[in-house]
Amino acid sequence: MSLSNNPCIITIDGPAGAGKSTVSQGLATRLGYTYIDTGAMYRSVALKAQRQSLSLDDQGAVINLTKNSEVKLNYVDGEVTVYLDGEDVSKAIRVPEVTADASDIAKIPGVREVLVGWQRKMGEADNVVIEGRDAGTVVFPNATYKFYLDADVNERTRRRLRDLKAAGKEVDEQELKKTIEARDHNDSTRKASPLKQADDAIVIDSTHLSIEQTVDEICKIMNKN
Ligand code: DC
Repeated sequence: MSLSNNPCIITIDGPAGAGKSTVSQGLATRLGYTYIDTGAMYRSVALKAQRQSLSLDDQGAVINLTKNSEVKLNYVDGEVTVYLDGEDVSKAIRVPEVTADASDIAKIPGVREVLVGWQRKMGEADNVVIEGRDAGTVVFPNATYKFYLDADVNERTRRRLRDLKAAGKEVDEQELKKTIEARDHNDSTRKASPLKQADDAIVIDSTHLSIEQTVDEICKIMNKN
């Protein structure tokens, strides 16, 4: 059987801070698959819109900007580099202002349509681990394996806090929790492809699991350990 004709697609959806990125990268590395970070695409479009001082209310302009953009994800040796129109924006897309705008940009159906098209193209070409909010519900409803990664909001807040501290940023824990809850609300109540668990997704609660244990659990379920 030729893999390129029949790639394996593993989707990992879930709320912010559930560990999707680290788990998806760990899984992709272990299996030798390509990793697709769909959030990085929404973030890149948000960054470009900000740089052009575009109002997110002008949906037509944001959709046009998306159509005229190129976002490339390069996953090599466990490192993802995100290129927006050829520029490395891996760090620039992780700042709080872009995080907030990405959540709003992700509500625009025309933007989602364009990005979902890019994501499907990437998934057709290779074995992939794709993470996001709608990977198993909209992008690849016929994925080989679908997982929904969740964790208690307090634990998700603590993880984010740790990441931010490691990056030298001090934030108030309660404020951060509020931001995470607001983003969960925004992502799961929007009309266009809201964050929700696919009916046939396997739910993994990572509250008490390390990254390694979560990847082990997923591999065990897929019989790939
Ligand atoms: O996973 P992340 O934090 O990088 O995602 C950034 C934002 O993009 C988040 O608020 C939700 C949105 N998003 C989405 O709506 N659909 C996706 N497939 C991925 C992300």
